[in-house]
Amino acid sequence: MNAQHVRNFCIIAHIDHGKSTLADRLMQQTGAVDEREMVEQLLDSMDLERERGITIKAQAVRLAYKGADGQDYQLNLIDTPGHVDFSYEVSRSLAACEGALLVVDASQGIQAQTLANVYLALENDLEIIPVINKIDLDVAEPERVAQEVQQAFGFTDDEIVFVSAKDGTGIPEILEAIVQRVPPPTGSPDSPLRALIFDSKYDPYKGAIAYVRIMDGQVPSGSRVKIMSNGSESDVLEVGVFAPAPTSIERLSVGEVGYIATGLKSVGDAPVGDTVTLANPAAAEPLKGYQPLKPMVFAGLYPADGEDYLDMRVALEKLQLNDAALSFEPENSVALGSGFRCGFLGLLHMDIVQERLEREYDLNLLATSPSVAYEVLMTDGEILQIDSPAHLPDSSRIDEIQEPWLDLSIIAPANYIGPVIELVRTRRGEYKRMEYLQQEGTHSTPRVLMEFNVPLAEVLIDFYDNLKASTQGYASMDYSLSGYRSGRLAKVDILVNNEPVDALSIITHRDNAYYQGRELVKKLRELIPRQLFEVPVQAAIGRKIIARETIRALRKDVLAKCYGGDVTRKRKLLQKQAEGKKRMKRVGSVEIPQEAFLSILKVS
Ligand code: GTP
Repeated sequence: MNAQHVRNFCIIAHIDHGKSTLADRLMQQTGAVDEREMVEQLLDSMDLERERGITIKAQAVRLAYKGADGQDYQLNLIDTPGHVDFSYEVSRSLAACEGALLVVDASQGIQAQTLANVYLALENDLEIIPVINKIDLDVAEPERVAQEVQQAFGFTDDEIVFVSAKDGTGIPEILEAIVQRVPPPTGSPDSPLRALIFDSKYDPYKGAIAYVRIMDGQVPSGSRVKIMSNGSESDVLEVGVFAPAPTSIERLSVGEVGYIATGLKSVGDAPVGDTVTLANPAAAEPLKGYQPLKPMVFAGLYPADGEDYLDMRVALEKLQLNDAALSFEPENSVALGSGFRCGFLGLLHMDIVQERLEREYDLNLLATSPSVAYEVLMTDGEILQIDSPAHLPDSSRIDEIQEPWLDLSIIAPANYIGPVIELVRTRRGEYKRMEYLQQEGTHSTPRVLMEFNVPLAEVLIDFYDNLKASTQGYASMDYSLSGYRSGRLAKVDILVNNEPVDALSIITHRDNAYYQGRELVKKLRELIPRQLFEVPVQAAIGRKIIARETIRALRKDVLAKCYGGDVTRKRKLLQKQAEGKKRMKRVGSVEIPQEAFLSILKVS
C-alpha cells in the first residue's frame, strides 16, 4: 500500500489503565477479529502473561480501516511491554511508530509510568493522542483527569478523546483521530533496505522471527538479508504480517510493519534495536539507537536436586533462544553445589524466568538473593565487573567499589510527601525535585511528582511494596539507570558453625552492614533447625565478627515422645523428617533449609 495511507501507532499507558482492552476493541471495530473469535486480550499471547496480566513481549497487528474520507488505510498497532524491566523494548517499539495513543485511567489520573512513557514518545517525535479511558466507571472523573493531562503535557481541550474500552464508547473517534493526526511514515522506497527490529521471537521451524518496521526500501520474501550489528546473513524463509494471525505476503515495503522469518538460530542473532538490510545491496549505515541488552540483576539459580543440573542447562539454553536478555554461566557454591549465575533485566524478568523453568521444564529451583553488578577498581588499576558477592576480591586489594544508581520518579497524593521522602532517605536516596501535577485548590488532595536518585541495590528488594504500604497504595513509580557511583560498600559474610556459607554473602553499604548482619543472623537462627550440638551463626566483615547468634543444641531425641507409642505414629514422624531433609542443604556438619537462602530478601 502507498505509504501515504499507512499509520503506525502504539498504545502507551500505566499498568492496568486499559491498554490491552483498548487494543482488543480496536481490532474488533476494524473487523480484524470478530466477536466469536475474540479471545480476551489477544495481544498478550503467552499464558504466563495472561495470568500475570502484563505484556512481556511487544507484538504488532495490521488493521484495515476505511476512513470517513472514504479512503482505505492500513493501521499498524504495535503493542509495548508494560514494565520498567523492558523499557528498552518499549523505546524501540516507539521508534517504529509515528503516533501514540496515551491512555490514562479516568479514575486514577497520571501515574509515574504514564510520564515515563510520554517522555519516551516525545524523544521519538511521536504525535500523541491523549485518551481518557474507563469513563463508564462510577468513580471516574474524566474532566478532572483531562485537566491534569492538559496541564502536565500542554494538550488543548479538543485533542482529548474520551473512551470506554469496555463498552466501546469513543472507539470510532480514536480511529479517525489516528488517521487524521498521526503523520504517514516517511522513508525512501528506493534506498537499500533498512528495517528496525522492535521485537523478536524464536520459532523452532523458522528460526528467529524479527518483528520489523521498514524504514527504507523493501524486503521481498526469499531475499538474502544481513543483520547489521553482527554481520550474520540468511535467506528469508517468509515475510508476513499479523492480521492478527501470521499471514505470509510477498514483500514488506517502506513504512510497513510485519515480520521476517530469518532462519537464524536464536533471537540473540536478530536482537531488538538492530537493523536488517539486504546482503546486496546493503545499507551503508545502520539505524540509530541500537544497544545490546545488558542484564542489571544477577542471582544464582540452583537445582534443588543436584541430578537436575544437566536438564537445567538444556532448559536455560532453550529459554535463551527466545530471550536475548537472559544470560547464564555455570557457578559452583560450596553450600548449594552446581548451578548457574543468571543475569536478568530486573526482578520481574527474574521472576518470569524462574517460573518458566519450574513450570515448563518441571525443575525445582533454589534462588539466591538478587544482586546488582558492581564495578570494582583494584589497587593495581584493574577494573572488575562483579555480579556475585562471592566473587568480591579481598578488601585489601580493592581501591573503590562502584554501584549502579537510578533516576527514580514517584507520583503520590501530596499528603504522602513526608513518608515517601523518608522511605527514599532510608534507602540512601537523594531528593532532586518536586512538582504539583494540579494547581492546589483544584482538587482536594493534589498529586505530586517527586524525583530522586537512588542506588539500584536499594530498590531491588521490597522497595515497591514499602512504597505502596506507606502511601496506602496510592503511589506509582518508574525509574531508569543513571550511571555508576562509588560507594562505601562492604561484603558481609555469614558463618554457620564457623564455616562461611558463600551463598549467603551480601554486598551492602557500610552504614547498613551492622544492622543487616544482625538481622540476617537473627533470621537464620529461627530458620536453621536445632542440631545435636550448639551452632554459632555469625556475620563478619573480613575477619571482624559483627553479629552473632547461637542455635542451642537439641536435647531430646525426635522419637522420645513416641516412646511406648504406637508404631504408625512413629513411622509418620520419621517419614516427615525424611521429607524435610530433602529440602535441606548440608553445609559442613549443619543442615540449612531452603528458606534460609532467601532470608536476606526479608531483611532491609
Ligand atoms: P497491562 O497489560 O498490565 O499493562 O494492563 P493494561 O493497561 O493492558 O490493562 P487491561 O486492558 O488489562 O485493563 C486493566 C483492567 O481494567 C481490566 O480489568 C479491564 O477489564 C479494565 N478495563 C479496561 N478498560 C476499561 C474500561 O473502559 N472500563 C472499565 N470499567 N474497565 C476497563
